[in-house]
Amino acid sequence: MTARLVIAVDGPAASGKGTIAKRLAAHFGLPHLDTGLLYRAVGWRSLQTGEAPAEVAAGLGAGDLGDPALRGDEAGQQASKVGAIPEVRANLLKFQKEFSSQAAGAVLDGRDIGTVICPDAPVKIFVTASTEVRADRRYRELRARGVDTIRPRVLAEMAERDRRDSERAAAPLIAAPDAYHLDTSDMDADAAFAAALAFIERKGFRSSGP
Ligand code: CDP
Repeated sequence: MTARLVIAVDGPAASGKGTIAKRLAAHFGLPHLDTGLLYRAVGWRSLQTGEAPAEVAAGLGAGDLGDPALRGDEAGQQASKVGAIPEVRANLLKFQKEFSSQAAGAVLDGRDIGTVICPDAPVKIFVTASTEVRADRRYRELRARGVDTIRPRVLAEMAERDRRDSERAAAPLIAAPDAYHLDTSDMDADAAFAAALAFIERKGFRSSGP
C-alpha cells in the first residue's frame, strides 16, 4: 500500500510554489491550503482593527480567507511581519496540522511546511527562482490586477520580505534536508508542474483519477 500523500511545497515569494501546489492538488484530487493566506489574514486584520496579531491568529478559521485585499502587497508585508512572531505561528499550527491530517491527504504551500508543519510528509518540494525573475512575475501579476506600481518598488519590497523571512528566528525560510529543489527561473508554469509531478511519480505516487 502507498503512504497517504501529503505534499509540502515551500519557497520564497513569487517562486511559483502556489501555482505548482494548486496544480498538484487538482491532479491528485487532494485538498489544498495556501498557508500564506493565514498569515496575510492575521496581518491584515490586526492592521485594520488594532487587535493583537496573536489573538487574531487564535481565532482564525477557514471562513476568514476570502477577502481579495489579502492578495495585495500590503497584506503580504504585514504577513511577513506577523509571521516573525512565535505566538502567531504557534496559534496557527493546529489549523494547519489538522488540514494536513485529512484522510484523503493534502497539499500545503508556504515557508515552513516541510520543516515545521509536516516534517513527515513523504513529498517535499522547495521551489526557488532568481530574485529578478520573481520580481518580474510579481510585477506582471500586480499590473494584471490593475495595481499601479513600478518594477523597482516591487523588487525592493520583495528583497525586504525575503530578508525578513530568511533571517527571523521563528521558522525561517529554509529547505528541509529531504526536499527536492526546483529552480523555476527558466521554466513556465507547465514545465514547473511537469518537473514536480515527475519527482512525485518517481516516489511511486500516481493519480487514481481518470
Ligand atoms: O505568495 P507570496 O510568497 O508573495 O506570499 P505568501 O506565501 O502569501 O506569504 C506571505 C508572507 O507570510 C510571507 O512573506 C511569510 O512571511 C509569511 N508566511 C509564513 O511565515 N509562513 C508560511 N507558512 C506562509 C507564509
